[in-house]
Amino acid sequence: MHIIFILLAGLVSCHGATYDYNQLIQYSLLFYEAQRSGKLPADQKVTWRKDSALNDKGQNGEDLTGGYYDAGDYVKFGFPMAFTATLLSWGVIDYEEGYTKADSLEDARKAIKWATDYFLKCHVSEFEFYGQVGEGNLDHNWWGRPEDMTMERPAYKIDAENPGSELASETAAALAAASIVFKNVDSSYSDTLLTHAKQLYNFADTYRGKYKDALQTSRAIYPSNEYEDDLVWGAIWLYKATNDESYLTKAKEMYDEFGMILYNPWFSWDQKVTSSELLLAQITKEDPYVQRITSYCDHMISGQQRTPKGLVYIDTWGSLRMAANAAYLCLEAADAGINATAYRDFAKQQVGYMLGDTGKSFVVGFGTDPPTRVSHRSSSCPDAPATCDWINYGSLDPNPHVLYGALVGGPGSNDEYEDMRYDYVHNEVADDYNAGYQGCLAALNML
Ligand SMILES: *[C@@H]1O[C@H](CO)[C@@H](O)[C@H](O)[C@H]1NC(C)=O
Repeated sequence: MHIIFILLAGLVSCHGATYDYNQLIQYSLLFYEAQRSGKLPADQKVTWRKDSALNDKGQNGEDLTGGYYDAGDYVKFGFPMAFTATLLSWGVIDYEEGYTKADSLEDARKAIKWATDYFLKCHVSEFEFYGQVGEGNLDHNWWGRPEDMTMERPAYKIDAENPGSELASETAAALAAASIVFKNVDSSYSDTLLTHAKQLYNFADTYRGKYKDALQTSRAIYPSNEYEDDLVWGAIWLYKATNDESYLTKAKEMYDEFGMILYNPWFSWDQKVTSSELLLAQITKEDPYVQRITSYCDHMISGQQRTPKGLVYIDTWGSLRMAANAAYLCLEAADAGINATAYRDFAKQQVGYMLGDTGKSFVVGFGTDPPTRVSHRSSSCPDAPATCDWINYGSLDPNPHVLYGALVGGPGSNDEYEDMRYDYVHNEVADDYNAGYQGCLAALNML
């Protein structure tokens, strides 16, 4: 019976299977709700999560509550959180109809605002920005609910003496992109976002440095390789939000000055070269940028390493997220009129891998044989007052709460994957994992 079922599932989902993108978009937004830190609103749908980390404070007592827990843990890492907000905003700007069709536009805006409200709090003065709350080792040595945690949660900032250009510039990009999202919805909020975006960009550009050197925290879990790509990316988003040509000129000049053509092209929280080239191609239609994005997508389609079952394999960590980000860029390229059919097919095939084309879903709570023991602390805990500790971590039972919509890290290079909490490389979830993936869903929902 079991074998027959698997065979049938394999047949049904093979080749050109259709998936309920509306539901998947709604689920992905539920994942972001589950990641919320701070005081939860009355309309919170993920009700097994409660208020938490209400004492998150800056070094001078500033209120730093809110924002998102990063992954399966409870540190608030500003850099990947900002990238997440930028990417989510980009998807809402370009694929709004995909969200509307899923009756999720409002929730998508809320997901963005949950991050941007927090960034506004973190920007305590013109050249002062909190980029992290919580500390990796203290946090990771404990297993339980965020509502119950008692470890110290220090806050770390950048300022003029200890700058962090990639952090400030990516946050500027997030606020600028979100200002476009809210322009016709809440113009005063949009203006506030843009004011902070301009200031943070100026901060990033004026005081150059790497944020991992500035934060003085345990081992920058998200150390970025360089800040130059973020400066270009931030300037482009400032241009998109303001139409001020000086930002575009700056972006193009820095792109040349930094020799960005030589950078690692894989789009992620750390790498924004290809995404910058894509935006420059869309904005300027100039040949060098168009060529770059074309060869990137062509490489993804026929040059990049693949797993035997067809996933483009770019990185050990978060293999699915890397594929989703690539798919997202190629969907954007398709919309810019570049080889649309081939690039959309590529994106559809990659997302299909995630949703179940191989007979297995990699999205929690969705489809055939989805992950059930994801490396995610809060959903691994039963409701209070039951205890939750390392015993729950080691349990072979499924997580008591279904973390709907979360995309797991994903398989290794031979499609191997184990649904176990200890395998945080392949079976953790993260805010940035879902961002490009969610944008793909919205785009595919419009085709
Ligand atoms: C479109 O992309 C496919 C796959 O990369 C490639 O084989 C084909 O030559 C491209 N077509 C054009 C017109 O560039």
